Amino acid sequence: MKKVLLGVSASISAYKAVEIVRLLKKRGYKVKVLMTEDATKFVSPLTFEVVSEEAVIVDQFKDADNKKVEHIRLAREYDLLLIAPASLDLIGKLSCGIADSFLALIFYAFEKKVLISPAMNSSMYNHPVNQKNIEYLKSIRVDFIEPDSGSLACGEEGIGRLPSPEYIVERVEAELTDKILKDKKILITGGPTREKFDDFRFLSNPSSGKTGLFLAEKARNFGAKVTLISGKTALKRPWGVEYVEIESARDMEREVKKRIKDIDILIMSAAVADFRPEIYKKGKIKKEKIKDTYDLKLVKNPDILKEVSKAKKEGQIFVGFSAQEDLNMDEAKKKLKEKKLDLIVLNKISDKRGGFESDENKVIIISKDEDIEKTRFLSKEEIAEKILKFIYEKWVKKER
Ligand code: CTP
Repeated sequence: MKKVLLGVSASISAYKAVEIVRLLKKRGYKVKVLMTEDATKFVSPLTFEVVSEEAVIVDQFKDADNKKVEHIRLAREYDLLLIAPASLDLIGKLSCGIADSFLALIFYAFEKKVLISPAMNSSMYNHPVNQKNIEYLKSIRVDFIEPDSGSLACGEEGIGRLPSPEYIVERVEAELTDKILKDKKILITGGPTREKFDDFRFLSNPSSGKTGLFLAEKARNFGAKVTLISGKTALKRPWGVEYVEIESARDMEREVKKRIKDIDILIMSAAVADFRPEIYKKGKIKKEKIKDTYDLKLVKNPDILKEVSKAKKEGQIFVGFSAQEDLNMDEAKKKLKEKKLDLIVLNKISDKRGGFESDENKVIIISKDEDIEKTRFLSKEEIAEKILKFIYEKWVKKER
């Protein structure tokens, strides 16, 4: 179990730190909260104690176990120090050696990763003194989470908002993940394609794009350089990933072909439409012009994976998906050979649980030399991790 120290300083956004604790705990981290005296005026230590299930330290002489020299013991025991929100005052103190709180003391004793998430009014954030302090801390390898822009507690607009707890937790998770795919260039496709027959209507499928998004996020956390080429989805855009939004299968083919030469691993999780309307009409087809029926002739789309496999280079790893109504392994193996794949991920789309719009899935991963891993129903996030770990164990680990 990885362990996170969370430092909370005086800011109206301190309430968001409660949610940070909750989300970290949900992901299985041990969390201990350290607060500055002024931070307790915004949120009570008791709130953090209940959510973290750990005693909160504010005052070294009242709260810390000094027989055990607690600031050193905690600095050695914990894996990461996150300070969120970090006030201008605290950042200033940390940049010039002042240790007038237990939180500041820990900062100087901590030898592992420190992540600071500032929150304040934009004039304060942009003040040259604050910027100089941040630059100095960056130069000694302290990492910063850039504040969001938007409406601030004081009623002004600008930079200085604490980012969402979800984003901050993702940054912590990325920091604490082993870099098993460090420097690998991975191209991932995800989501549905839209095949238009006029400017406002199209054929598509219900793919949510979640599998592609989770693959991209996990691969980024594993240290890979990731490009995600995705059809339009309702999902957030992942940070730290080159994101390319496309519409049609032919757009996707063009973007994949542009990049394929330079990548180490291709994972085609997109639900590419196999057909598109033969004729596309500009503007909107008016219904008055149609009697009872409108004939839509379909033509086959290019098979992107099959096309790019023709020029596959030695050492490249290609992964395909196979969405089937029943888990037919023979059909998947046939596809694996036809498309010159190294791995195929077989998933069932006819189940109520699992499939296109669901949050979970059950898959069979088959390698070209017939190593097989069957999963039970897992979240799409867990499935993404399984696929990437399979690739690491089978190929990447052996090269290193
Ligand atoms: N694929 C592709 N280009 C297409 C269609 C599919 O690159 N025009 C990719 C998909 O992203 C997937 C793999 O090829 O990785 C398998 O898709 P497909 O050939 O459609 O196979 P199945 O999903 O098994 O289904 P079916 O043969 O029934 O279409």
